[in-house]
Amino acid sequence: MSGSMVKFHSGKNIPLELHKVRVVQKLHLNPIEDRLRAIREAGFNSFLLSTKDTFLDMLTDSGCNAMSDRQTAAMMLADDAYAGSQSYDRMEAKVLELFGKQFILPVHQGRAAENIISRAFISAGDHIPMNYHFTTTKAHIELNGGTLHEIYTDEALKIKSDHPFKGNMDLDKLRAVIDTYGVDHIPFIRLEASTNLIGGQPYSMKNMRQVREIANKAGIMIVLDASLIGENAWFIKQREDGYKHKSMAAIIREMSDLSDLVYFSARKLSSSRGGIICTAREDLYDKMRDMVPLFEGFLTYGGMSVREIEAMAVGLEETLDNQMICQSPAFIDYFVKAADALGIPVVTPGGALGAHIDAGAFLSHIPQTEYPAGALVAAYYLISGIRGMERGTISSVRLEDGSDLLADIELMRLAFPRRVFTLSQTEYALDRLNWLYKNRELVGGLQWDKEPKVLRFFVGRLKPIGDWPEKLLSKFRADFGDSL
Ligand SMILES: Cc1ncc(COP(=O)(O)O)c(C=O)c1O
Repeated sequence: MSGSMVKFHSGKNIPLELHKVRVVQKLHLNPIEDRLRAIREAGFNSFLLSTKDTFLDMLTDSGCNAMSDRQTAAMMLADDAYAGSQSYDRMEAKVLELFGKQFILPVHQGRAAENIISRAFISAGDHIPMNYHFTTTKAHIELNGGTLHEIYTDEALKIKSDHPFKGNMDLDKLRAVIDTYGVDHIPFIRLEASTNLIGGQPYSMKNMRQVREIANKAGIMIVLDASLIGENAWFIKQREDGYKHKSMAAIIREMSDLSDLVYFSARKLSSSRGGIICTAREDLYDKMRDMVPLFEGFLTYGGMSVREIEAMAVGLEETLDNQMICQSPAFIDYFVKAADALGIPVVTPGGALGAHIDAGAFLSHIPQTEYPAGALVAAYYLISGIRGMERGTISSVRLEDGSDLLADIELMRLAFPRRVFTLSQTEYALDRLNWLYKNRELVGGLQWDKEPKVLRFFVGRLKPIGDWPEKLLSKFRADFGDSL
């Protein structure tokens, strides 16, 4: 399962950049002593670091994918208007072309779509089956009194696997949830393309068709979170029988046709901001429409600037280009295979949006209650200047009895925003990760300093247990001398 579209005569599996760099941004690779000060000031939470203290920003791909020359050019054509902007018309036409759904609502980002969908369709006591949750999705469903059921297959949480579709839904478990709670309490089944929190893992078209059959029999609608649909479609093209010669457009349309309602964060799918909800059913549209002017903005901008809307339209079109969409999976595939070969515990096979390091195994001496994924993110930043994201128990919640709801898997995500990093930067990220793995016993756990009640991972502050950051710094200096 190679991610690259180009074979090398040497047999090496190297991801080739299929674009050239025309605008650059200076990065900041500061001395490790400065990084220790920065991570302390950030409460050992990578969300609170400034990019002036960061070398490679691998926190997320959301809003950080490189824009194309065509996107920036389109932004200059934007039609400034509160209502009836032609920029909106252009974007609406593109959404219709891709998804084939004519009732379209604009929102300012993905979680705004989740707010509107949850308010429109979920009542207290409802149950929502899904292949896996995303943090903001879970928060909005629970805020409206719903309960999530994550019905992934056994393969999904296996760190080492060669299963091509770890994002699949378990059909027996889906039938069991429907039998247990009844169709009247299940407003929709949610499918997430390239399931973010289990390592950007796709589901297959076959699985989606089977879910559709079950949904049809029960009379339940399917809501598709299409934020990472481009990559999921790319993996279907690469990995599923019968799809090799289908176009990206045909695959995306097939996924949309199997859904009643599609929403996406444009921060992931096509541009730096924005989001969309679309459906072919007027009754569903009517239930949501009035919330757009209330929470987002008028129906022809939904909280986005017209420039962002223009960039989104072109970005959606570019999602259909194999040579664009393959870039991030190819770099992730390269990184994952190289880390695996070095013995570093990493989620395989490589998926969408980033490489995912198994922090539970990497720092097996740290109990989950001392947040191994958070500790790994802080330690990796300290020794490399690279900012990853914690996707483990810190990203989970505190239960009513005061204990942590322990995450299924403790991951450090290193995002590969599309067309942003070069191969030598990828090699640097691997080199420093390998050094940290060899010195992993120096890393200790974290504890809360200030813990927010909702979505605590965003702005919560932590502190190290013991003086492990100083010890790590000393070892770095001993091994690397005065190198940055
Ligand atoms: C799968 C998925 N759904 C929803 C969201 C929320 O989107 P936003 O960050 O634009 O609010 C994200 C963001 O990363 C996501 O990955």
